[in-house]
Amino acid sequence: MSSAPTPPTSGPAKIRLRHLLDAKERGRPFTMLTAYDQVSAQVFEAAGIDVLLVGDSVGTAVLGYSSTTSTTHQDMLTFTGAVARSVHRPLVVADLAFGTYQTGPEDAVRHGVELIRAGAEAVKLEGGHEIVPQVRALVAAGIPVIGHLGFTPQSVNALSGHRVQGRETAGADQLADDAIALQEAGVSAIVLELVPAAVAARITEVVAVPTIGIGAGPDCDGQVLVWQDMAGLSGFEGRFVRTFAHLRGQLQTAAEEYRAAVTSRAYPGPEHSFE
Ligand code: KIV
Repeated sequence: MSSAPTPPTSGPAKIRLRHLLDAKERGRPFTMLTAYDQVSAQVFEAAGIDVLLVGDSVGTAVLGYSSTTSTTHQDMLTFTGAVARSVHRPLVVADLAFGTYQTGPEDAVRHGVELIRAGAEAVKLEGGHEIVPQVRALVAAGIPVIGHLGFTPQSVNALSGHRVQGRETAGADQLADDAIALQEAGVSAIVLELVPAAVAARITEVVAVPTIGIGAGPDCDGQVLVWQDMAGLSGFEGRFVRTFAHLRGQLQTAAEEYRAAVTSRAYPGPEHSFE
């Protein structure tokens, strides 16, 4: 008998941002996974995942770019549409691509509107006090915003690689100040990436909006992973990732067995053929 947990049979038929706030207030962790296409989105909806993030990580996880700085707005529109059309219950969040909001509030709103038109229910953007005008403009335009602090992948070049942020006191204080600035600007939640657990716990305590951790310890209000990492498909095994399946090996075995069956003429058999 399987001991796998079953997805929720009760709870809201549709996850809204207020349910994340409610989860924070009740001390109940919520779940976010990236999703980029119909199959992944529907599987995660069936599993009861609360939030699907159409991350700009689609560029590195699917499109073969070496950095999310290469993911384009058009990429985001395409994959956001695929996910949004495929699910009903999870909240769908889409990333604003690199270069679509750093240039100012007007650009942020224009691109945010297009993501919402494509089916996103909130947009995520990276940065602290420097993007407060963009956050204010998006919120004023009726577009819910999720912030992203700590290691911000679109700044990988400025940050000199994938590094934990906020280890020093000044850096930790800056992150806390940025989180408060984002909250005051109107964000609905904040992703904390590659941040010491104690710093993430402190930020989670000082802000009223939910925090969502990735490599930020157990005290965030929710957790997020790139789904191919979570499922052991990408081969990425960073310290903060727990692989809950080994899909890469299973997929390779399936493809090898298919190849062997075709080359030995074991497949297709009569049962797969038409009269
Ligand atoms: O694009 C993405 O997948 C993300 C997560 C790492 C939070 O922003």
